[in-house]
Amino acid sequence: MTGVGRHTTTPAGGDEFDAFAALTAELGLLYGGDYNPEQWDEATWVEDVALMRAAGVTLVTVGVFSWARYEPEPGARDMAWMDRVLDLLHEGGIAVDLATPTASPPPWLGHRHPETLPQTADGTRLLYGSRNQFSPSSAAYRSAALAITKDVVARYAPHPAVRMWHVGNELGQVSYDDESAAAFRTWLRSRYGDLATLNEAWGTWVWSQRYASWDEVAPPRVAPYHRNPSLELDFRRFTSDALREVYREQAAVIRATDTRRRPVTTNYMGFFPLVDYASWRDDVDVVADDSYPDAADPRRASTTALTQDLMRSLGGGRPWMLMEQATSAVTFRAHNLTKTPARSRLESLQAVARGSDGICFFQWRAARTGPERFHSAMLPHAGPDTDVHRGVRRLGADLAALAGVAGTRLRTDVAVLFDWQSWWATGQDGLPTNRMDALATLRDYYEPLWRAGIAVDVVEPGADLTPYRLVLAPSLYVLEPEPAAALAAWVADGGHLLLGPLTAVADAQAHVRPGRFPVLLADVVGVSGEEWVPLPEDGVGVAWDGQTFVARTFAEHLRLDGAQAVATFTDGALAGAPAVTRNEHGAGRAWYVGAVLPPDRLAALVERVLREAGVHGLVPDLPRDVEVTRRGDVLFVLNHSGEARQLPVGNLLDALAPPRSAGPPGSAAPPVQAAIDLLTGALLTRTGAADALHLPPDDVVVLTERHP
Ligand code: GLA
Repeated sequence: MTGVGRHTTTPAGGDEFDAFAALTAELGLLYGGDYNPEQWDEATWVEDVALMRAAGVTLVTVGVFSWARYEPEPGARDMAWMDRVLDLLHEGGIAVDLATPTASPPPWLGHRHPETLPQTADGTRLLYGSRNQFSPSSAAYRSAALAITKDVVARYAPHPAVRMWHVGNELGQVSYDDESAAAFRTWLRSRYGDLATLNEAWGTWVWSQRYASWDEVAPPRVAPYHRNPSLELDFRRFTSDALREVYREQAAVIRATDTRRRPVTTNYMGFFPLVDYASWRDDVDVVADDSYPDAADPRRASTTALTQDLMRSLGGGRPWMLMEQATSAVTFRAHNLTKTPARSRLESLQAVARGSDGICFFQWRAARTGPERFHSAMLPHAGPDTDVHRGVRRLGADLAALAGVAGTRLRTDVAVLFDWQSWWATGQDGLPTNRMDALATLRDYYEPLWRAGIAVDVVEPGADLTPYRLVLAPSLYVLEPEPAAALAAWVADGGHLLLGPLTAVADAQAHVRPGRFPVLLADVVGVSGEEWVPLPEDGVGVAWDGQTFVARTFAEHLRLDGAQAVATFTDGALAGAPAVTRNEHGAGRAWYVGAVLPPDRLAALVERVLREAGVHGLVPDLPRDVEVTRRGDVLFVLNHSGEARQLPVGNLLDALAPPRSAGPPGSAAPPVQAAIDLLTGALLTRTGAADALHLPPDDVVVLTERHP
């Protein structure tokens, strides 16, 4: 998977040196978790290091919540304890991902500087006594955060235990306070220049919202009725940029101090609505993600796979790392289901299968105190003699066995287009329906690809699409002319494109584009629409391949302008109008879906589009809920089904064949005869067509060719 347009930037720092790759080349797949030594005494630290070693832990994230311990009162410093922690870890051979301790300021900061405390849209100040209580635009917060960051980094950059840097924690604050309002105005001035342009961009003649002076411009605070969608969209962008500034300031201190150029990162939160991670791609040396799939969600495996594909794509295809997850229960849901060790292992290996070179947990030792006292850990309250901890040791051994996977990549012919602004805009008030959301739609379109064993790159509009045969844009509500033209040209050159409903409706200001929709792509799809049609509860009938079904929630009133109707509405005002269309455009093909389809119909459509695009999954006829991926020349097979599954050995061996483009033209590699499971050493051979691999529930095999 190379050449993902703007995603092929070099790692942060601007040159070809890949600090994270250098680390994993030495340590293999990283394994460990958050470690919060300030909660424990020294005897416990010693015990922890011994237990970490026994579990195969190679990396711990330290110091995330240490600010009050380092700086018990303003300007004071108490760091000797951390010297000891780092020495102990280093003596134990455990590498450290050292955090800047800026995620949770001590109470003294908010007490002395209430302006550092974030304010909600209704003006409520959020107090200390919890965590995350800072406004990203607060100068007092930023200067206090920088001061402690400088001292921590200066003191520990030379320490041999420190192998990675971790800025803050889950940056995701938003604030509507006056200082943020002033920063928002500065941001708007640099975007629009003058007030007339801002008024134009926000369409302020509507409802007499015209601004006469910059001082009147404010964040989208609580208001009597729907707020201006363009203002809301810009405040989203501003908030994302403000958080990036917080990250960048601290990362700059690290980069200026650490002459050994160890990787700098922060932990993302999957598809997190407040931060456009795609805009941070040049800021982190490795993409790191925190993942807490809901054990009660039957779709969690495909939902997680999509997030993992996003993380890999945000790093331009380079390995990413799973920074935090739970061994079993979390504590932030109302009812926190546990996970078996086998399920925890499966979820960890899923991340490796989709490109992660680090598997870490929150946290090493279960906290006895604080709100997360019932959060699972690598070392539970009940100690090492527990199934959870035995699972942790087993996983450590598994990851050691997979060390050779580090640095390898996935490749795919398929991309989905996703960007935060379309997601933000489809969540706004005043749309035809609030029952559709770009992320939910993306998940629906992704699931059949996951089931077919096809990895997907998640890229933004405007990315280079030349590596792909098929591109899906399930919900590209906001689209600008340049990426639209690039998409059209890519189809004309032979690409296959599948567009979902509500595509290319608005511009970057959330203004509706006039004309028959999808305005910028109507030529490409050969179909155009004139009205968005939210459906009554009983939906609308659709005829497709001689069968009928009911589409619910939402449809579009379309007209064929050269495309062929694949499915047609059968009743109501839309009777006879196309629901799904297919169009030849130049050397390529474009499909348009003008309705929310039931999952089985959507799956059938995606299968057909894949077939016509000549895109195949790694393994044909995958049993349900079995996931396959390929990293380099290693095949991962993961059983999420909760039941035993059988897979024909021949199909698995075929999936290990070198990619067709790998050999000289015309050369066909001889079929792979045997493979070894890197986790168990078991051998799979092509002895008979009927041989099947038996995969118990929650189990994983990791196959590589075994040469005779
Ligand atoms: C996130 C945070 C951690 C912890 C866990 C709990 O990952 O970064 O500090 O709160 O959630 O699941």
